[in-house]
Amino acid sequence: MTALVHTRAGLQPFLDGFANGKRGVAMTMGALHEGHLELLKKARHDCDLVVATIFVNPLQFGPNEDFDRYPRTLDDDLKLCAEAGVDVVYAPAVEEVYPGGQPIVKVTPGPMGEVLEGAFRPGFFTGVLTIVNKLLNLTDPHMAFFGQKDAQQLALVRRMVLDLNMPVEIVGVPTVRDEDGLAKSSRNRYLSPEERTTALTLSRALFAGQEKTTDGADAVREAASAVLEPAAQAGRIDVDYLALVDPRDFSEVSPTFSGEAVLALAARVGTTRLIDNLPLILTSPGAR
Ligand code: PAJ
Repeated sequence: MTALVHTRAGLQPFLDGFANGKRGVAMTMGALHEGHLELLKKARHDCDLVVATIFVNPLQFGPNEDFDRYPRTLDDDLKLCAEAGVDVVYAPAVEEVYPGGQPIVKVTPGPMGEVLEGAFRPGFFTGVLTIVNKLLNLTDPHMAFFGQKDAQQLALVRRMVLDLNMPVEIVGVPTVRDEDGLAKSSRNRYLSPEERTTALTLSRALFAGQEKTTDGADAVREAASAVLEPAAQAGRIDVDYLALVDPRDFSEVSPTFSGEAVLALAARVGTTRLIDNLPLILTSPGAR
């Protein structure tokens, strides 16, 4: 049985009940799909108490973004949580989380939060890190589970926990995709059937880049770009960025770089903005 609570007070008995156990949290904005499910299952495997949070965080949406139309599907979400063996869903109201309106004190992500997603969504990672920090304090877990799908978010959360000495283990979970490669996302439900087909260009570009990891960073970028370009030229997608970055700080890697890198992109298909990425291991051509 999965319990549903809307307040911190309602959550307390569950935390008390597992005071000596391992407590895990997976934070979400709801509209749950198999990607979220993977986080919840990993938490179920690793922890004694599994808390899922569902909260569409206004602080991380820009004024022209989709906060109002973001899908809210609590009944379906609860069924998925039950399927994954979640103990308790904490779904607070905005007033519970931000009783005085916007918080005065927020978490600043620094330079790593100003590139890629941060450059196209000003204030986004301040909103994300502030709510992640708050939800960690509210749910008091030993472990917190985040998807690789949001690679920059995962890297910044890891960095926040390190830099601020937060007593929690951050666990990264690989991206779950549909069979044809499209990364699962709550925003996929905005796509028309035709747009969904077009959206496959994103993952196809990443996989094309992945084929070139032994040819160096430039070859990886070029291969991915060669897939995106025709769709962009034809006006079917609008690319915000394609970048090959160092996962430690999200700076672009040099042509001779070898080691772990992330090939990341963001593009709009119609009015829907999608992001995707692949972690890669590069061997520089010079090193062979
Ligand atoms: P949301 O987009 O709902 O995602 C919740 C968690 O699920 C994130 O850690 C995300 O990376 C993970 N996730 C989403 N799609 C995934 C997929 N296809 N495969 C694997 N994991 C996936 O990310 C957020 O919400 C918010 O920013 C949040 C962290 C909850 C703060 O508000």
